[in-house]
Amino acid sequence: MPELKDLPKMALRARARAYAPYSSFQVGAALLCDDGSVYTGCNIENAAYSVTCCAERVALFSAVSAGRRAFRAIAIAGGPAGDAPREHCAPCGVCRQALAEFADEELCVLLVRDENDVQMYRLGDLLPASFTKKAL
Ligand code: THU
Repeated sequence: MPELKDLPKMALRARARAYAPYSSFQVGAALLCDDGSVYTGCNIENAAYSVTCCAERVALFSAVSAGRRAFRAIAIAGGPAGDAPREHCAPCGVCRQALAEFADEELCVLLVRDENDVQMYRLGDLLPASFTKKAL
């Protein structure tokens, strides 16, 4: 069963499948569910640029569409194509909001430069005072 420690490698592996011919910026994500299953995603770009979907949302929507709604952690690895990530790639605001729909502020967000250089955040620190369904 995969664990938190396995996520960085899975995100790096998913990054290799990015379809990013326009930005040449490849991102991979690996989302760990409460039941121990992991869903991965990569960014998928489009000639109509705004249609592009980030790796995090590809992973999240894949998990939700498979019936998962409870999550423990997500690992993200991003950087220019053809090279290992040079920096820690943080999730964009849209992906933070998408994650907040299903995860609470304790969701662990791992930013992966390489397997041995991982920064750890809480979703609540990356998206404080978020808009949620509680407000509706
Ligand atoms: N991208 C992601 O996949 N995740 C992020 O958190 C930031 C940006 C993608 C979108 C686009 O394909 C490329 O990276 C450059 O913005």
